[in-house]
Amino acid sequence: MLEQRIRHTGLRSRIVSAEEAQQYVKDGMTIAVSGFTKSGDAKAVLQALAKRVEQTGDKLRINLYSGASLGETDTILCEQQIIARRLPYQSEPRLRKSINLGEVQYTDQHLSHTAELLRSGCLGDIDLAIIEATAITETGGIIPTSSVGNSPIFVQRAKRVIVEINVNTPIEFEGLHDIYLPKDRPNRMPIPITKVSDRIGTPDIPCNPDKIIGIVLSRHTDTPSNIVPADSDTQRMAEYILDFFEHEVRHGRLPHNLAPLQSGVGSVSNAVLSGLCNAPFENLEIYTEVMQDAVFELFQSGKVAFASASSFTLSKSMTEHVNTSLSKYRDKIVLRPQEISNHPEVVRRLGVIAINTALEVDIYGNVNSTHVGGTHMMNGIGGSGDFARNAALTIFVTKSIAKDGRISSIVPFVTHVDHSEHDVDIVVTEQGIADLRGRTPRERAAIIIEKLAHPFYKDELLYYFHRALAYGGHTPHILEEALSWHKRFADTGDMRQFRGLADVVGRNRRISSHTGRTIKGMSRPL
Ligand code: COA
Repeated sequence: MLEQRIRHTGLRSRIVSAEEAQQYVKDGMTIAVSGFTKSGDAKAVLQALAKRVEQTGDKLRINLYSGASLGETDTILCEQQIIARRLPYQSEPRLRKSINLGEVQYTDQHLSHTAELLRSGCLGDIDLAIIEATAITETGGIIPTSSVGNSPIFVQRAKRVIVEINVNTPIEFEGLHDIYLPKDRPNRMPIPITKVSDRIGTPDIPCNPDKIIGIVLSRHTDTPSNIVPADSDTQRMAEYILDFFEHEVRHGRLPHNLAPLQSGVGSVSNAVLSGLCNAPFENLEIYTEVMQDAVFELFQSGKVAFASASSFTLSKSMTEHVNTSLSKYRDKIVLRPQEISNHPEVVRRLGVIAINTALEVDIYGNVNSTHVGGTHMMNGIGGSGDFARNAALTIFVTKSIAKDGRISSIVPFVTHVDHSEHDVDIVVTEQGIADLRGRTPRERAAIIIEKLAHPFYKDELLYYFHRALAYGGHTPHILEEALSWHKRFADTGDMRQFRGLADVVGRNRRISSHTGRTIKGMSRPL
């Protein structure tokens, strides 16, 4: 077993326990770890570190860089207050809480940017990289597991490296990865990917064996993803998108196999991809950062020709399927560094269709994906901006209401802008689909309110928009009211202004006098 997992004979003597390896982590260090959306993350050493801190009460704070979210390790470290600074993405409730309390400094970053910032020196030195691996090659090269993420740049830049060989990972992972690191400027060359299936690098992360100070044998499993099954709303959103694709094919704006698809984390994206199993499109290609269960369902239904990503984020049962049938997927899948899977140059060249989730969208098409109420971090922008800005077709999805209707996801003005109106082509809620391409702000507002808003809020939005028009401008607003819906929610726990019958009747009269619109079905309390 060891011969297969550590093929560099000189490195076999560097096997240590996780408890020994964690002693290399010192207060104030910057530690960079493998891991992307809870997949392929280094787990053993950092969890041993947290245990030590818990037992000894040592005071130790580190800067923690990764590819994207880690699994339970983020929570375990946070509970011991070990994380001082974190980037570029997270999704654990415990860490979210510490970020919003200001206990953890969090840099929310486009996922393709971290490698560039490291190259430029803006993120300082990496003292130690800890990388989960399937094996180490004869030359010291590191073969990743279920994600590549930022591991190549971490290994290149780190002063020292610890490798966690996960002996539970199928050895068949070898050959699935394609490691390519752009050269430092001014010697940068075009990234030679012109097809989703192009392989341009090496199967392993090159590493000088002298840098490897310890090898830990681990058996930790990835935290399984818990995809919420599609409900009637997400199902309807998926149907709108699939109908829209058919419409675009009929009008010659998309080819019969669509264009390479990117889909973000979350249940709607997963439902859209699952829906493609029964849609009339063949030979689909995926160019994304995360492969969720639906990508493998599409493989099983023979719909997908090739899929490129930076990681797998799979349920427990799909992980079992994939881990036992990797050889079947070898010539159909590639896992790349995240700066390549998310690279603007490649996303633009391939003409990707990007589907990501919004928390809220405003009447002009600006999207907030990260900040609840404009102040509290949810997860982070992740790769959504890398794709949204550069895709050929950028789609955002969101349910039209949240918290049992107390929040409208379509608002006069978003409280935080992650994706500006200039980058948003299509928005979908369970109410409908709005095609914003080529539209002016005033046209966009009319379409967004009409097609996307929930009936609870449609007339309120129209009321706002029509009064805003009186102020004039290219993008009319009533500035003192633009965020008043959020203020009302903060004050009362409900964005709805009119809740009693008398309120509603009076409100309807005012709205119809402004908009000239007969208000149907609104004569009862909301
Ligand atoms: N205001 C306040 N809260 C809102 C809201 C709004 N407008 N819209 C939704 N929410 C709440 C929901 O009620 C839910 O709360 P809960 O956890 O207490 O139940 C929570 O936000 C998540 O909403 P949900 O509808 O379950 O969506 P999701 O799980 O698909 O996540 C994002 C949505 C936006 C948080 C998630 O997609 C994300 O982090 N995106 C940014 C990163 C990204 O897009 N990466 C893409 C490449 S992988």
